[in-house]
Amino acid sequence: MLTLGVLASGRGSNFQSIIDSIESGVLNAKIALLITDNPESYAIERANKHNIEALVIKPRDFSDRDLYYSHIAEELKKRNVELVILAGFMRVVGKALIDKYRNRIMNIHPALLPAFPGLHGQKQAAEYGVKISGCTVHFVDEGMDTGPIIIQAAVPAYHDDTEETLSERILKQEHKIFPYAIRLYSEGKISVNGRKVIIEDNREDPGMINPPLIQ
Ligand code: GRF
Repeated sequence: MLTLGVLASGRGSNFQSIIDSIESGVLNAKIALLITDNPESYAIERANKHNIEALVIKPRDFSDRDLYYSHIAEELKKRNVELVILAGFMRVVGKALIDKYRNRIMNIHPALLPAFPGLHGQKQAAEYGVKISGCTVHFVDEGMDTGPIIIQAAVPAYHDDTEETLSERILKQEHKIFPYAIRLYSEGKISVNGRKVIIEDNREDPGMINPPLIQ
């Protein structure tokens, strides 16, 4: 069974969608650990409720970024975490963690990358006036939301969308495709060749706009 470690900073609704997929038997994995940089994160309560160990690890307690991310990597390794999930972790991950988990860290971003990376992807998309937006699950590299793309889901964007209305529409898809990407990984169906992520049995719906397993 795949062992996950989750990093989250905020309300943790993506964390919850992964917990729910595991508990309903759709995803055959276990979450060994939640790490947050924010003692106020609601993800901590979600972890407590589901008997998942939670650690608050704050950057300011470390003299530099390398030490911070090395410490996080050690905590994950100690619990035999195989795949690291960034579920609304609001920091650019340091090399010290990426090197230890190359192509084994997944992030969810609330826009169709490479459009609108960084903070507030939904606000950027709404203000730009795009007609289609969505979300992207990708592996994490040293850049800002630049790693190899695993799956994406598209939603319509309307002229009168606000950051809130577009975010809500996108979030529904986030909650489907993130557990789905983890499931594909857990089944050994994902491989990486440079920038390209190859998903087995994926010719029919390469964008995974309608993930068949989680509706
Ligand atoms: C989501 O929109 C995700 O795409 C982004 O941060 C937000 C986290 O939301 N990376 P939640 O904490 O999972 O509810």
